[in-house]
Parts: sequence; C-alpha cells; structure tokens
Amino acid sequence: MAVMTTFNKVKSFDVESLVQMGSIHVSAPSNIALVKYWGKKLDQRPCNPSLSMTLEKSRTYLSLEFTGRSYLKDELIQIDYFFEGERNDSFSQKIHKYLSILAPSECPYLPYFDLKISSYNTFPHSAGIASSASSMAAIAYALVLLEQQVFSLSDSQENQFKRISHLARLGSGSASRSIEGPYCQWGLDSQGFGNDDYAVGVTQIHSLFNQMNDSILIIDDQVKAVSSTQGHQLMENHPYREARFARAESRVRVLKTILEQGDWKQFCELVEGDALELHGLMMSSTPAYILMRPKTLEAIEKIQWFQKKTSPMLTFTLDAGANLHVLYPQSVTQLVKDFLESELSPLCVEGRMIHDSAGLGLRLETGL
Ligand code: PMV
Repeated sequence: MAVMTTFNKVKSFDVESLVQMGSIHVSAPSNIALVKYWGKKLDQRPCNPSLSMTLEKSRTYLSLEFTGRSYLKDELIQIDYFFEGERNDSFSQKIHKYLSILAPSECPYLPYFDLKISSYNTFPHSAGIASSASSMAAIAYALVLLEQQVFSLSDSQENQFKRISHLARLGSGSASRSIEGPYCQWGLDSQGFGNDDYAVGVTQIHSLFNQMNDSILIIDDQVKAVSSTQGHQLMENHPYREARFARAESRVRVLKTILEQGDWKQFCELVEGDALELHGLMMSSTPAYILMRPKTLEAIEKIQWFQKKTSPMLTFTLDAGANLHVLYPQSVTQLVKDFLESELSPLCVEGRMIHDSAGLGLRLETGL
C-alpha cells in the first residue's frame, strides 16, 4: 500500500499552480546494513527485513533547481545533471530512469518542470560505501521538499520521512534506510514492526551503540564484479533462499534486543555472521561469485586476533564487495585506530581508510 499522507495531494493539481521556481539544497548519508537485504520481490520490496547503521560523513550533497511550466514538452522528463561540477552521462541516465519511474504514479507533476540537479559525494566511487543509497535518498528528499513548496503542504516529520523513504526505495532498496539515524529497519518483521514500503528508525538504543565508529578499509578500489541488481536476482532460485530469509528476519529481531541491551559479544557474533552469510550466499549462487579478496581474509584474521589478544571491542561487516567496515564504539577509538594504522592500513590500496561514524540522517543544507 502506498504511503497515505497529505502528499497524496500531489496527484491532483492545477497545472497553472506549478508555474514556480526555486532551489533546494540537501544532503543524505549512506548506510551500512548489519543484517543485509539480499533478494527482492516485485516493486522493489525486500524478501526479508534488514537493519542498518546510518553513516555520518559519507554523504551525497545535492542541489535541485526547478522551474515549473503549465505545458508538457516532447521529452517528458527534463533534467540537466552535473556530478562534481561536470556533466556525467552515466549518472544522468540513472537519474532520468529513476524520475521516469516516479513520474507516472508517484510524482505526476515532474513532467511540468525543468530540473537541474548538481551533486557530489564526500567519498570516492568503489570504496565499499553505497553511493546509490545516499544519492537516491538525497533526490527523494529534494523532491519531497519541492512538493511541500509547490503544493504548500505541511505534514508531520514522521509522514515526511515515510514519503522520502518510500520514494528512495523505488530508486534503490537500501536507499530507503538512508533517512534517519543512527539505526533504521526496512521491512516488516514477524513481530509486526517495520514496513516493506519504507524504513523506520530504530529508537531503543543503548549508549554503547549510540556512538559507533565505522572505519572502511579500501582493500579493492575496482568496480564490483557483480551489481546488487544481479545479486538480488541470484536469490530467485537460490538453494538456501527460504532458510536465508527466515534467518535474516530472526536476526533483525534479535539485533534490536541487542542494540537495546548493549550486549557487545552478541552484537559481534550476529553482525559478523550476517556479513559472512551474504558472501556465503554469493559463493553458493549459480553462477558463483567470490567477492572477498585475499587481503579481506587477511584483515579478518587480524581483527579476530585483536579481538582475542587485545580487546573484543571491535567487529566487522562487509557489503557485497571486498572492503571491510570495522565497527567499534567511540570509547576505544584510540586503541583501535592505532591497530588499524599499524596492522590493517598496509592491506589497503595506498593505505587508504575512511573513518566514519554513526550519524543522524538527512540534512537540509544552505548550498553545495
Ligand atoms: O539497495 P541495493 O539494491 O543496492 O542492494 C543493497 C544490497 C546490500 O548492500 C548488499 C545489502 C543492504 O542491505 O544494503
């Protein structure tokens, strides 16, 4: 069911009322899933619920300039797109496709606007940080602000977030979780919490998990061997499909209890287990993919050694790629950073790591 809010007013409008101009500046974060979404149904709905940590520094900054008209042009979606100050055909096509998906039923006003979007990311491409999550969430946020301005809407923050998350989901599933922070759940669980249509914030969080660091080790900076779209498709006939969806659903529920109670040991077991399971699913798909590199395994062994010998207060997760996300609470920042610098940075491309932390989600900006 689509999100029912006053935003449904955007579906019946008088074209003359659209003749307006304006500009909107926002930023949206990326996120890292702790329990992964892997496998989708029709309409970009997930086969299992997922739960992620919102990042703070890894963001897309985006400006949307709009000029409304009362008539249609030949090409329905009129968009001029600039990435890092330059025209970028491949990103431009992706955004055009996304807006064309939204126009017929979600945002029917779009064909009446000339749009100019400029954006940049604070993190490099192929770093193991989902740029589709932050960029789709940033576009969705800008569109919802455009709707508010053009249609003089006012809605609760909760409903606004639902609408943004819902629109972002249609661009990229994981983008639905790049809304609130520090943790978000997308997908309905068996306790009736969550929704397949949009993500919701997970609010009962122990102080241990409120201030978490995420250091991303750039072990491989090449484009991924398999896109997430292909990866989701591999789950369609996967031999462990049903077992995976049931396990992920139960992990989401257990993880919420862990986050509430502050149980670090269980957190590590669950988060590491789900990351390795994602890679196990790829290795047992047809065709099979190995997304870790030898240095990913070397880094994992070093982390396990550090957990045993020095401090258990760090853990890791992986996206569908070779780069590791090392998670640790802020209280052990110095200890872990010394270890990362001495033991793990030699495994990274040119010693590169990105130090990020749990963040609070979408932000209104004053400019790019
Ligand atoms: O949002 P997508 O279609 O790019 O898929 C994301 C898949 C993972 O990043 C591997 C897991 C997740 O939940 O973010």
